[in-house]
Amino acid sequence: MFNDSSTARLVDRVRILVEQSAAGSQLPSTRKLAEQHGVGPVTVQRAIRQLTTEGLVETRPGTGNFVARRLPVQNSDFSWQTTSLGASRVDSAPVGSSMMTVSPDVIALHSGYPADELLPLRQIRGALSRAARSPVAARRPHPSGLGELRDWFAQELSMSGTTRIHGSDVLITPGGQSALSSTFRALAGPGDAIVMESPTYWGAVAAAKQAGLVVVPVARAAQAPDPGDLAAALTSSGARIFYAQPHFANPTGAHWSRDEQDAIIDVARRHGVFVVEDDWAHDFGIDAEVTPLAARDPDGHVIYVRSITKSVSPALRVAAVVARGPARRRIETDRTIDDLYVSGVLQSAAVEVLTHPSWNSHRRMVRDLLRGRRDALIDALDAAVPELALTHRPLGGLNLWLRMPDGSDPEAFAARCLSRGLSISPGAEWFPAEPPGAYVRLNFGGSHPDHFPEAARILAGALRA
Ligand SMILES: Cc1ncc(COP(=O)(O)O)c(C=O)c1O
Repeated sequence: MFNDSSTARLVDRVRILVEQSAAGSQLPSTRKLAEQHGVGPVTVQRAIRQLTTEGLVETRPGTGNFVARRLPVQNSDFSWQTTSLGASRVDSAPVGSSMMTVSPDVIALHSGYPADELLPLRQIRGALSRAARSPVAARRPHPSGLGELRDWFAQELSMSGTTRIHGSDVLITPGGQSALSSTFRALAGPGDAIVMESPTYWGAVAAAKQAGLVVVPVARAAQAPDPGDLAAALTSSGARIFYAQPHFANPTGAHWSRDEQDAIIDVARRHGVFVVEDDWAHDFGIDAEVTPLAARDPDGHVIYVRSITKSVSPALRVAAVVARGPARRRIETDRTIDDLYVSGVLQSAAVEVLTHPSWNSHRRMVRDLLRGRRDALIDALDAAVPELALTHRPLGGLNLWLRMPDGSDPEAFAARCLSRGLSISPGAEWFPAEPPGAYVRLNFGGSHPDHFPEAARILAGALRA
């Protein structure tokens, strides 16, 4: 049986031996190392493999293991690249803090993904191993995706509205992020404007900038943007795309009412523009269900992006873009040129999890867990740190969006929290332009609620420091 700690101990001892030996000298055989350190040969092989990966040991098949050559310390001169690359198209730090990796002892409220307990892990493991043993493991799937998976997404969307969606309207992509990048690239060109709600998902802003688009922000009213403001932004910028998160938006949790949806789709129709509807939190409704705009869109104004990377597993990089009319063809071409197709193993595993009878009961369980976590974090914050004002109790999603007192510096606050063992996401990165106030985002779905009182104490201490 593999014992992590005995391998780690052996790695440390052999590393010392390697550091004390001349480059090229032979290490004792596996049998000898096993005898000397009182471990099995498998542990020795694992330790040698790790040291080989670290570049400290070289294995010569049939001869043995040797201390690797030490390459001279190098001071490369990359300055020529500065001149050659010229101006950067994206900001220097376009990747949001929600992608940061923190040590396991930090309470992680910064993450954009839910905790393991919220994932259907048993089904995923079974589905992945069955897919790996099936013929899909050796086949190239159709560039648009597996028929069964495309049909599943089409059926789910058709059932929630009045527009009939076909599997042929669906393209499978490796996650929502690449769906957004492809859609923006396919529907607009460098220098074109794109309108976005503000605040919004940093990854959408980064994808638009990477495609050379000019991001035009439109403020949210209580939940959705004011239709008049949206119409004015579209007219003055000439934008042909409006990127929106109508359901449990990241980071605010805002959720458009049916009337707000109708008013905005009406603006899109009158201006002849596309609405890119990012339904990233479809499976995270708590007090409301998602009713996609795309399900009531007969004329193809809505490009619908539905990812399952958060609700099924971050390891299953699978999402769908639903687009109808000539726009679909353009997005499909961009996708195919970008990465040809998504692994059939991942797609096949996704079909199995999504069509399994347990999927719906799993979603109900997630809803209850999220409700408990959302309320527990709100209560802990109310009790310990009332200075952080909740903008509103979100009806779904994974996040709380909190206003800090005027004059606060969310970046410095997040850094102080991290040094005390709590990671959070400072607000500025969620604004396509200058933030109108100081905000932070806290994820209530990514860590256990037992940690919330301690998290609230750290927030209070860091705020008053
Ligand atoms: C609003 C929103 N859209 C899209 C994505 C991209 O998700 P993925 O590429 O993991 O499907 C994210 C990830 O955080 C998100 O928050």
